[in-house]
Amino acid sequence: MKKVIIAPSILSADFANLEKEIKAIDEGGCDWVHVDVMDGTFVPPITIGDNIVKAIRPHTQKILDVHLMVEHPETQVEAFAQAGADMITVHQEVCVHLERTLQLIRSLGCKAGVALCPSTPVSTLQNVLHCTDLILMMSVNPGYGGQSYIHAVTDKIKEARKMLDTAGSKAHLHVDGGVSPKTIEEVSAAGADCFVAGSAVYNTPDYAAAIAELRGLAEKV
Ligand code: DX5
Ligand code: ZN
Repeated sequence: MKKVIIAPSILSADFANLEKEIKAIDEGGCDWVHVDVMDGTFVPPITIGDNIVKAIRPHTQKILDVHLMVEHPETQVEAFAQAGADMITVHQEVCVHLERTLQLIRSLGCKAGVALCPSTPVSTLQNVLHCTDLILMMSVNPGYGGQSYIHAVTDKIKEARKMLDTAGSKAHLHVDGGVSPKTIEEVSAAGADCFVAGSAVYNTPDYAAAIAELRGLAEKV
């Protein structure tokens, strides 16, 4: 059976009860906790800062998977690493010196991820695979939870899977946006092994059941 990682996004959680919301997905069987950081510039909303990562860190032992949707992420990664992030993902579109930024993340003791917007070609990552622990394929345009999966991204996932396998890379292939029981089989079959799910977990009454359903569908592919 395929081993999959389910990473609920706390973007769709109740921010007034974040400790409770984190514990609920932790006890509900999630693998990673996905944290969406937005700066109001790269994407319109402003969401979570390193102070919030520091505040939630004591409430779960699960991997904190921090997705930086910010400009100049190289100026932020140290603060998020110190706050307790385990994985830090930056966007290719805002990193002129992407290789350096990924190496910086690793030097801080974190796993280094790189994200691609739906319109950014997979080939832009070909020359940084040696310092990439995770590719995060956006399957919606970043900025908001609850959007619909863009099916044109499925071919990009297949292309990225092939690129990683050809290079002998063990990097995770993460898919973020519109992942739900309706879409996760398509995403898993295309070669993803990690799945962000915001509304498909937090907008349901039973987080454990939602995580189990997503896991079951992704694993059987
Ligand atoms: C969007 C964020 C996603 C978002 C996913 O910019 O990166 O992580 O929370 O939400 P859903 O799963 O509802 O599409
Ligand atoms: Zn995200």
